[in-house]
Parts: sequence; C-alpha cells; structure tokens
Amino acid sequence: MIEYTVTEAKINTASKIFYSDLNISNSEIQSFISFANKTGDYQNRKTNVKADMSEWSIWTKTNIYDSVLEAVSDMVNNTTTDWLMKDYNGGVYKIKNVWLATYRKGDYTKAHTHGPESWASFVFFIKNDDNNTPLIFKGLQDYLFEPVVGRVVIFPSYLEHYVPVIESDSERIVLAGNIVYVPSNKE
Ligand SMILES: [Fe+2]
Repeated sequence: MIEYTVTEAKINTASKIFYSDLNISNSEIQSFISFANKTGDYQNRKTNVKADMSEWSIWTKTNIYDSVLEAVSDMVNNTTTDWLMKDYNGGVYKIKNVWLATYRKGDYTKAHTHGPESWASFVFFIKNDDNNTPLIFKGLQDYLFEPVVGRVVIFPSYLEHYVPVIESDSERIVLAGNIVYVPSNKE
C-alpha cells in the first residue's frame, strides 16, 4: 500500500480536515489523467459540479485508482480525529461513491455539502498544470487547499465547499468520493 503521512488542518473551532501528499509516480499520475480524459462528461452539468463529470460509480468501472482508494480507506479507518466515530459500535468506514471531475476555463463548482448521507468525503488532485484554482471550504474565514498533484484532502461531509471559476487554459482534474460509516451489525 502507498505509505502516507497525515496532516491535520483546523479550519474553524468545530471542524478539522486532514490531508496527505501521496507518493505516486509520474507514470501512474499520467495513467490517472489518461483514464479521466477518456471518460468525458456524463452529468451534463446537472450537478453542483459545472465541469465535465463522470458517473458517480466510476470506481466500479476501473481499478486504475485502487491504490489511491485503498490509501484513503486506510486513512479514514486509522486516523484519529474527533469527527470520526472511532470504534463506535465497532463499525468501519467504507467508500461509497467515487467520481472524476475535469475542469477547463470557465468551469467551477457551486458551494455545496455532501451530507447527510455520507460521513466523510475526499478530493484527490490528479492534474493542475499552471491552473492553481483551489478547493475552498467556507467558514467565518474561507480555508483554501491548493490543488497539489498527489494530495488527498479528507473532510467531514457536512462542510460547505466550492471551486471558483477556472481562469487558466489548463485542465484541473480531481477524483472525489464519499465515505459512509457502516456499524458492525450492518456489515
Ligand atoms: Fe463536493
């Protein structure tokens, strides 16, 4: 499995986010980009994501992102932070949906949350070139994550976030997903 180090960011008095820069080779990143480029748009900009967006279930159509998803799953299950219900009813966190979003000039994502049906959500940055449009969490003060390639950001699904309009000519590609908590008696 990919080795990772988790860093915690406190974005307001109540909410923490954790993130990690995954050690992924350039060739693997290139394969992530190639797959996303072939996937195209499936949602016709009918979701909050006003960019090319895949099916919600893209992770069931390919195993190309499995190394990233395995690391995310491990992180959520093994990182201690107060918004994760560790050992509550002995359950586990499981990835539920995963999708791709490819932004080009003029694209953006409206402010939204992923709750309440999921507990945690993640964004993994695949490509940005010179496009540094951040992922922004709203709060008393906005909290910005630069789209560093290879970085995964994991956050409580109730946090409102958005992506501002892309001003640059380069693509910005992310893999994103939701994570649910499954109590032990429902596994
Ligand atoms: Fe989102």
